Amino acid sequence: MAGRPAGAATTNAPPGAQRCINLACGATYGLRERVQLCPRCGETLEIVCGLPASADPELMRKQWTSRRARRAWSDDPRDLSGVWRYLEMLPFANDAPFVTLFEGNTPLFDAPRSAAYCGLLRLRLKHQGYNPTGSFKDTGMAAAMTQAVIAGARTAVCASTGNTAASLAAYAARCGLEAAILLPRGQVSPPKLAQSLDYGALVLEIDGNFDVCMRLVQELGEDPSIYVANSINPFRIEGQKTIAFELIEQCQWRVPDHIVVPGGNMGNSTALGKGFQELFDLAMIDRLPRLSIIQAEGAAPLARLFARLDFNRQRGGEDIPEKLEPVENPQTLATAIKIGAPVSWKKALRAVLRAQGQIISVSEQEIADAKAMIGRDGIGCEPASAATVAGIKKLAAAGQIARNDDVVAVLTGHALKDPDYMIGYHEGTLSLTSVGTKAHESFAGTFRNPPRRVAATKAAILSSLERQRSA
Ligand code: F0G
Repeated sequence: MAGRPAGAATTNAPPGAQRCINLACGATYGLRERVQLCPRCGETLEIVCGLPASADPELMRKQWTSRRARRAWSDDPRDLSGVWRYLEMLPFANDAPFVTLFEGNTPLFDAPRSAAYCGLLRLRLKHQGYNPTGSFKDTGMAAAMTQAVIAGARTAVCASTGNTAASLAAYAARCGLEAAILLPRGQVSPPKLAQSLDYGALVLEIDGNFDVCMRLVQELGEDPSIYVANSINPFRIEGQKTIAFELIEQCQWRVPDHIVVPGGNMGNSTALGKGFQELFDLAMIDRLPRLSIIQAEGAAPLARLFARLDFNRQRGGEDIPEKLEPVENPQTLATAIKIGAPVSWKKALRAVLRAQGQIISVSEQEIADAKAMIGRDGIGCEPASAATVAGIKKLAAAGQIARNDDVVAVLTGHALKDPDYMIGYHEGTLSLTSVGTKAHESFAGTFRNPPRRVAATKAAILSSLERQRSA
């Protein structure tokens, strides 16, 4: 691995701090302090950005619009990157060594077939799979790697189900840091493994699931040479919260009624919740969109906890339960969210409670059919992302989403992460075998579209077409 010379980059210190999310503790640490969890109470940290009192939301809004307009010809990362465009809201100074692959700038699609499938008049899909390495992780990694450079880190490490790995590998390569990636052996899709190898990361295949890899990363983080790049790192969350800013700009500052995201380790939901909250606190939006998280049934520790909450007590998101019962052997074909012990569950739960959303789970069949329907809109995504549309259908059926609500699902990853899943669905061979019980479940492709073998003649092809038209 090529290393960068040791030593921190010199840059002005921006205002702000790292703060423990535990209200009873409330300890704060400087932005430059290398802390993972709160050294005082062990809870996760979040960043409070010190916006100067002179910050004028209207001016910031104009600034963001003009940076976006300069994209066609500028070479300034603040114009080209959908993260650095929002620098005023981030814990970095103007002269920070911005690491970027021009992440963000992702499309917001209208998805009429998926909308009808969910029983809605309209549904929009914010597609984070259009990021440089194919997932939303890139927005967070731009911020985390910039902070790693500022901190003078040598090796960035993460646990991953695939996307974080590819993203870290690329962004670390970009800024000359070493990257070491812990993957659950045999459980990561070949395209993601291939990306990580190609970007030059040290790939370590671990005999254990994601939660085991995550535990090891937290232990490794105690070594001063290691910089942890999972979403437990609050700088990752800062980069990812820009998805909320970009989305609201694309909605021309009209707040959607409902935003729906898939949930695994719970960094993404935390980040979106934080982004919307900050816009609301600055009066840049006049209300919070409802924020809901969808988990896969076989990996749904937070959905289970949510179903048991006492909403009178937890209203406002300030009184969060102390413990989450993990799922020991999470099971789902949506590998990105096959996580039984999410590290950021408290922050995500707080965001959902403040935004009056829901946390529910959906079945493998529901995810597979929703994914095929997103494909029929010409959009496509990886299975974990499709959990959103499956969840929206379920929430609409339960009356939690109204037919004419303005709903946005965040699609988190690119369709080509899991080609075997798609082929399996369309050929009718998609199945899941449980690790413990060895129970085997097969999934019918409700919207199956298998390849047809056809003779090499024009007549045979035309007759195949005819059969398709009249089907
Ligand atoms: N969707 C995709 C495509 C993901 O890759 C992930 C997480 C999630 C959703 C869940 O997001 O963890 O922030 O709640 N993937 C991680 C990884 C775990 O290693 O790539 P979350």
